[in-house]
Parts: sequence; structure tokens; C-alpha cells
Amino acid sequence: PSVDVLTIDGPSGSGKGTISRRVAARLGWHYLDSGALYRGVGVAASWADLDLADPAALVRCAFDTRIGFEDRADGELRVIVNGLDATDELRTETAGAAASAIAAVPEVRSALKDRQRAFRRPPGLVADGRDMGTVIFPDARYKVFLTASPEERAERRYKQLKDKGVSVILDDLLREILARDARDANRAVAPLRPADDAVCIDTTGLGIDAVVERVLALVPAPR
Ligand code: C5P
Repeated sequence: PSVDVLTIDGPSGSGKGTISRRVAARLGWHYLDSGALYRGVGVAASWADLDLADPAALVRCAFDTRIGFEDRADGELRVIVNGLDATDELRTETAGAAASAIAAVPEVRSALKDRQRAFRRPPGLVADGRDMGTVIFPDARYKVFLTASPEERAERRYKQLKDKGVSVILDDLLREILARDARDANRAVAPLRPADDAVCIDTTGLGIDAVVERVLALVPAPR
């Protein structure tokens, strides 16, 4: 029997990352942050000064970039790209935009397919991204699609960045989020959309704990 997977897809700022990590911890399952893979390849491409319009170079970069995850004692997940701790750089909107650009290249997506599927190990996997339920783990037993209004997503992101001491303008964030949503939803390969069998949860006005409980309720005990 194949290993259970819970996919959590949704747009940026829907709370996917936080929710997925907490749900994985509660279930004692592995966690895949697929966005970090795209972000990692995106920053590696920019470190190497690659032309984002050169698919062959990007595919080579996708295969060659080493991306590792390290759980720190403080509960933080660090992302190591080609041996360097790139966690902070990966979180920037610049890295998000680079990720979204390279993620639109079909060959880059296929280059990352096996790497994502390798995370499926016992006792289970929580996989967070855009196409986890539609493309990477279509046979997942549990599928969730998280949404929230663009305004609320921009505000969450604003607070996150402010807490980190990064100063940004809320309106700029909202504009960037809408632009990235449009690109992710309209691309030809693996566009952002809920799987037919996904449970959609609108998290607008909901706290993190409430969403975590709703997601956990989908996975029957004993866990
Ligand atoms: O989830 P996160 O914001 O880290 O993802 C960054 C970008 O990577 C997204 O905007 C999207 O373009 C791309 N991505 C993707 N498929 C995934 C995860 C992320 O295309 N499974």
C-alpha cells in the first residue's frame, strides 16, 4: 500500500506554509515545502546570472542545484542551497518572483518531479505547494486547497516581513501578490487550481489554530 499523502495547495499568503508545518508536526509526518525548491532553483539561477528566458540553462540549473532542509532546534526550517543557508534570501519577494518565473517553464517542473515524490516516505507526507494535489501527488488520500482574500494575504505577508524588520509598502505587496497569482493561475503547465477532489477552505478571518484543526479533522484517527 502506498504511503499516505496530505496535499495543501493554494496561493501565496494563504497560510499554507505555517499550516502545513504544524499539521505535519501534529501527525508526525514528513513535510515537503515545494515552493522552497522553486525558490532555491530561482536564486541559484540568479546567483549564476542565468538568462530566465533560456529554458535549457534553467533545466540544467534545476538538476544541478542541491537543496537541503535542516530542522533547527528552535523549530525553524532552514533551506540550504548549494551548501549555503539561503533561508532569508528565499523568503524575499524577489526570490518569489524568480521562482514564479522559472516555475512557468515546463521542463523545470518535470526536472523537479522526482525530487518532490522522493519525500513520500512512511509514516506519511504533508506536501505544500501549487500542484501537489493535481500533478505531483494526484493519488493523495487527503487534499486541501486554502484560499484567503488578496487583501488579507497581503496583510499577513506585511506583518511577517515587518516582524523580520523588513520595511515594505502594503499596496506594493498587494500588487505583487496579485501579479504572482495571475501568473501562477494562467500559466499553461500546472496552473494554480484546486484538484477536483480537494476540500477548499477559505481562511479569511480564521486564525491559524482554527485552520489547523479543520485540516486535521480530515485525517481520521488513529494518527
Ligand atoms: O509557495 P511559495 O510562495 O514559496 O512558491 C513560490 C513560487 O513557486 C510560486 O509563486 C509558484 O510560482 C512556484 N511554485 C510552483 N509549484 C509549486 C510550488 C511553488 O509553481 N508546487
